[in-house]
Amino acid sequence: MSVIMYKLLIFAFCFNCVYGYFTLRGRCPEKVDLQENFRLADFYGKWYQSYHYSSDGQQMNNCSVSELMTRPSGIYLNQSRVDRGLFHRFSISKLDIPADIEKGSQLRVIFNNKNAPRRLQTRKYPFHVLATNYNYYATVYTCNYSPLIDKHFIYVWILSRNPVLNEVSKTLATKPLQQIGVDPAHLVKDDWSRCTPKYYTEEWVEPTTFRFPVPI
Ligand SMILES: *[C@@H]1O[C@H](CO)[C@@H](O)[C@H](O)[C@H]1NC(C)=O
Ligand SMILES: *[C@@H]1O[C@H](CO)[C@@H](O)[C@H](O)[C@H]1NC(C)=O
Repeated sequence: MSVIMYKLLIFAFCFNCVYGYFTLRGRCPEKVDLQENFRLADFYGKWYQSYHYSSDGQQMNNCSVSELMTRPSGIYLNQSRVDRGLFHRFSISKLDIPADIEKGSQLRVIFNNKNAPRRLQTRKYPFHVLATNYNYYATVYTCNYSPLIDKHFIYVWILSRNPVLNEVSKTLATKPLQQIGVDPAHLVKDDWSRCTPKYYTEEWVEPTTFRFPVPI
């Protein structure tokens, strides 16, 4: 099956989901100031999602923990979540680290799906660090643009070293959001009191934060 066919097929099946997913007008925000002198080595360790924003309004990434892992083939990001309060799941992506140290916070995540047509096997999404002090908070966002309907999708993670983020850190963490047009009032606070999964998945699952599989 050709890539075009595949895209059309996905598009036909997913007409509603494209419209539901990309809701913000125009392209992704440009000229965004990210964290300066980003130090990846200090980003290791557990990060709890303490607040999040998903521009499509979906709450699909509850009780999420992000953590970098080093493997012989590179550095990977493990992001877990709890679905419906019961199912513990995780997705793993490879981290694409910019060669230019000055642009260290312009990370990307890469998902590989061997079952997809060749040109769609590798999916890349931005995973840009807007701000972090490494010890308390980190603000990360991704943006996905659809040229077809000229709209974009944004997901913001306000990450915290503890499930609860202190107020000072929250203020610092949310400050850069205005650059990408996200109103901090629209952040959703994660409820960590209902994160006790009964079932654990051993294998990789599709992420819910980098949802749209093909660039259309
Ligand atoms: C990913 O992280 C979750 C916990 O956050 C853990 O249960 C799971 O085993 C990790 N996956 C891998 C492959 O390390
Ligand atoms: C995530 O949590 C919200 C609020 O508690 C709930 O409405 C939603 O169904 C949850 N989503 C999933 C996928 O568990």
